[in-house]
Amino acid sequence: MGKYYCQFIFHICQFSKLYLSLDTIISGFFFMKVVSLFAGCGGLDLGLVQAGHQIVLATDFDKDCKVTYDNNFDHELLLKDVKDLKGEELPEYDILTGGFPCQGFSIANLYRDVKDERNELYLEIVRLLNETKPKFFLAENVPGILSLGKGEVVKQIMKEFSEIGLEDDFPGYEVKKYKLNAADYGVPQGRKRVIFFGVSKEFSPDAINEVFKVFPPEPTHSNDPDDNLEPYVTLRKTIGHLPEPYTKQGEKIKNHFGTKHKVKINGYMGNRKLSWDKPGPTIVGRGGGTGGPVIAVHPNCERRFTVRETAIIQSFPDDFEFYGSTSSQFRQIGNAVAVEFARHLGLALKKIETIVKAELFEINAN
Ligand SMILES: C[S@@+](CC[C@H](N)C(=O)[O-])C[C@H]1O[C@@H](n2cnc3c(N)ncnc32)[C@H](O)[C@@H]1O
Repeated sequence: MGKYYCQFIFHICQFSKLYLSLDTIISGFFFMKVVSLFAGCGGLDLGLVQAGHQIVLATDFDKDCKVTYDNNFDHELLLKDVKDLKGEELPEYDILTGGFPCQGFSIANLYRDVKDERNELYLEIVRLLNETKPKFFLAENVPGILSLGKGEVVKQIMKEFSEIGLEDDFPGYEVKKYKLNAADYGVPQGRKRVIFFGVSKEFSPDAINEVFKVFPPEPTHSNDPDDNLEPYVTLRKTIGHLPEPYTKQGEKIKNHFGTKHKVKINGYMGNRKLSWDKPGPTIVGRGGGTGGPVIAVHPNCERRFTVRETAIIQSFPDDFEFYGSTSSQFRQIGNAVAVEFARHLGLALKKIETIVKAELFEINAN
């Protein structure tokens, strides 16, 4: 019976001209249903979809993000303030994700403030987790969150995440946090991010132990030859081939335009000379105070990066198109989780799904 089943799958793959490895076929059966809060233009969501997961609900309150999102995904983004979103509105799902707003936390924001009300939006994640209690959650933020309020803020966030559901006879979540660098996963950019990952304690301690053996994913790239990994991906490799914007060739490329802000190399953020042979700088969504996003200088030192170049440095595919004003497009891209980094997180989630599948059937049956 098993033999015929395998042959059947093999023939389907051949028929559809999908020459997939056995690993890919098997892991194709294991995916998570994702509810994505603060989905933005969809960097995290795209990586998860590329890894084979299904977004069952994506939501954000930014109109430009919605236009970008809807034009690039098969499903639509729900335009809504997270504060108005009720647990009962969420479809059945496995994992809640949320790159909660980071302006109040970011070191790019010189005016960061513990009391900034944007810092409290993680409480909406806590509320929705309390209302729906999925098996997993993954929240993302900037490293600045670790030092905010001398570390008290992140302590409080970890405490709130760890206490979810405890008032309702729910065993709660095993929660860990990690500081990861997107460059270690093949993103052409030094981009450190804090990932909070929670696993329901409905799973056995053994299963939870196994889960944390595959999460976070192992780095695939390194600058240290002793690590025996691929070298960091450079700017030359990713954007070196692009024609200059505002030329006949350049105009054929989507979103290949930028700001007219003059270039001055003075060593400050956004005004540094970049090397072609290193990963790019962190692409940011906003600078300090109320100004627009800080766009770094192209390695040719003659102009700043275009929207398309920042998108490529964030590993968005070339056909992913951005909408809204130029500064809105830069903001959407700078706010996003780098797609390739998200794909690696998604691949780890696939492994996790295979680890917990048997227990999942049991938990759901009870
Ligand atoms: C850091 S970005 C998330 C980026 C996204 N994870 C990605 O990978 O593209 C934070 C997002 O939260 C959204 N946001 C901020 N406050 C919100 C609110 N009250 N309700 C819904 N969305 C909100 C912003 O519009 C922004 O798109």
